Amino acid sequence: MKDTDGKVAFITGAASGMGLGMTRAFTRAGMRVMMADIDDKRLQAAAAELRAQGAEVDTHACDITQEEQVFAAAEATVQRFGKVHVLCNNAGVSVGGLSEELSQQDWDWIVAVNQTAIVYAMRAFLPGMKAHGESGHVVTTASMAGLINAGAGWGAYNASKHAAVGMMEVLYSELKDTPLGVSVLCPGAVNTNILEAAKHRPAQFGSSDDRPIALNPIGDTLAHGLDPDVVGELVLDGIREGQFYIFTDPGMEKQIDRLFDRIKLGFAWARNNEHLKAANQGELVWRTR
Ligand SMILES: NC(=O)c1ccc[n+]([C@@H]2O[C@H](COP(=O)([O-])OP(=O)(O)OC[C@H]3O[C@@H](n4cnc5c(N)ncnc54)[C@H](O)[C@@H]3O)[C@@H](O)[C@H]2O)c1
Repeated sequence: MKDTDGKVAFITGAASGMGLGMTRAFTRAGMRVMMADIDDKRLQAAAAELRAQGAEVDTHACDITQEEQVFAAAEATVQRFGKVHVLCNNAGVSVGGLSEELSQQDWDWIVAVNQTAIVYAMRAFLPGMKAHGESGHVVTTASMAGLINAGAGWGAYNASKHAAVGMMEVLYSELKDTPLGVSVLCPGAVNTNILEAAKHRPAQFGSSDDRPIALNPIGDTLAHGLDPDVVGELVLDGIREGQFYIFTDPGMEKQIDRLFDRIKLGFAWARNNEHLKAANQGELVWRTR
């Protein structure tokens, strides 16, 4: 999607961090933005600041774990701006705990925000984005934790972010013959308010007020992380240049190499397995891109 001027974006988690950074970058580029977030107070403050700078934004307070609220947000955006060109599935949360110690409500909350909400948004927004026939883009904020093992205590977050990457890989294949592009943003450390994620935990998922977002202390890492406004500009570049994987931390490529090394060891092991040798399989040809 080369031409962004006058185009309409819908962004979740737009009141803070990277969602706000994207809103700033997009509006500077002449886009109009429907900012969505569960934190209405912060959302109104962010929108007021942007409007004061001449940005054309509107707000829609919603909880993206509720399917009907995501559909209502899509309808409100079309009513307000006519159509949607760019969908940013950005809001996300985390809570730390060993895989068997996290409560079912912990798992359900993380999966609901980081994974199932993307499913709701694809069904709520994509039919309209395809129907108007103009160029557009879907950007989902996953994480490096969607590609690598983020470490002990990150089970629910890691699983939900791997799901987000997987959904975008498939969506890329499904949209490749349409004017709609797809990107998956996989940030490293970014200096946002994600440490406060528990504040935005809807009541039906219980409470995690007394628990960190990760077992290992990451506050310092995040405080020294990238400026979310830089991520906003990076995402805009990614949309314009049709870049599928958007990374914020090129230094983390080493961790991908290590993951691939471990996967390749698995293939080497399988290649030498006597049962597989005896089964004498042919080469499986499965091209997906
Ligand atoms: N900060 C990092 O280092 C980092 C790294 C990798 C990935 N991420 C991902 O980046 C994305 C953006 O997070 P951030 O770091 O900017 O954090 P942030 O907390 O600053 O922003 C997240 C926003 O999402 C909103 N939100 C939470 N639950 C919601 C719900 N149910 N419905 C609607 N809105 C909801 C929050 O109110 C908040 O404004 C998330 O998906 C996160 O997992 C963050």
